[in-house]
Amino acid sequence: MKVFVIGSGVMGSGIGQVFAMAGHEVTLYDVKEEALKKAMEGIRWSLQKLQEKGSVKDVESVLSRIFTSRDLSEARDHLVIEAVFEDIKVKSDVLGRVSPLTDEIIASNTSSLPITELSRAVRNPERFLGMHFFNPPVLMKLVEVIRGDNTSEERFREALDIVKSLGKYPLPVRKDVFGFVVNRILFRLFTSACALLTQYTPHEIDYVAIKELGMPMGLIMLLDYTGLDVNYDISKEAERRGFPFKCDVLEGMVKSGKLGRKSGQGFYDWS
Ligand code: CAA
Repeated sequence: MKVFVIGSGVMGSGIGQVFAMAGHEVTLYDVKEEALKKAMEGIRWSLQKLQEKGSVKDVESVLSRIFTSRDLSEARDHLVIEAVFEDIKVKSDVLGRVSPLTDEIIASNTSSLPITELSRAVRNPERFLGMHFFNPPVLMKLVEVIRGDNTSEERFREALDIVKSLGKYPLPVRKDVFGFVVNRILFRLFTSACALLTQYTPHEIDYVAIKELGMPMGLIMLLDYTGLDVNYDISKEAERRGFPFKCDVLEGMVKSGKLGRKSGQGFYDWS
């Protein structure tokens, strides 16, 4: 299978890596050469880590299956995964341009936008669906597969099989609601954790999440890890759709350039 991933940020590059590790030929697309270079460096780092742990045998052979491109027309006849940032206009624009090029499945990695709304930009929307990976895609086992109102049952099942063939656990989501399944839970937890920031430090809140709730990473740290800009955009979409995800401090932090792990500063110092 030939896979074309649109957007080479943390999610796009991680998803591309997952497909390449499963033996598929992957093209990572981005508008900026610099972003593609950074993505390839991140993938190499990750593959080397996995090789140290014994879960990847040959780093170079996985890398040889990953190509980069700044030309959207190279998506011709590919399965497409869209992983650009959470903006309905940006996503719709790119989906509209890519969908005439291929008859294969087109999936969005959106975590907060409605699949049915995005499908309006896609030609032949019965092959459009959500394929929501979690960060970091290489290590997280669960992938939500979301059926929008226009997705056909046949393509939905095909997507579930594709996810299974990657060695992941597909969670079928047949109701296109805000947050799908995982984020309906997670964003409520984020809201509670954020509300506690007026009384407790990020360390204290995260200590509770890890030691008492048994989470692998504290909730405040997870906000940093997934990106404060990403979470801020999601909070605005949540508000638009009447879902209770609120974290007031995010706006000021994002405006002052604190984006979490990716910028070196967030609730924690990642530099
Ligand atoms: N590739 C390969 N190796 C990686 C890696 C990657 N992408 N990321 C981390 N590792 C490695 C680390 O370098 C480390 O290696 P060493 O042992 O050699 O140092 C090893 O994995 C273990 O990592 P850590 O020591 O940092 O810590 P950890 O054991 O806690 O594992 C984690 C890291 C898997 C990220 C874990 O903390 C975790 O599961 N965190 C929660 C992640 C989560 O909930 N993600 C979902 C977020 S929500 C989302 O994504 C969607 C959304 O819609 C916003």
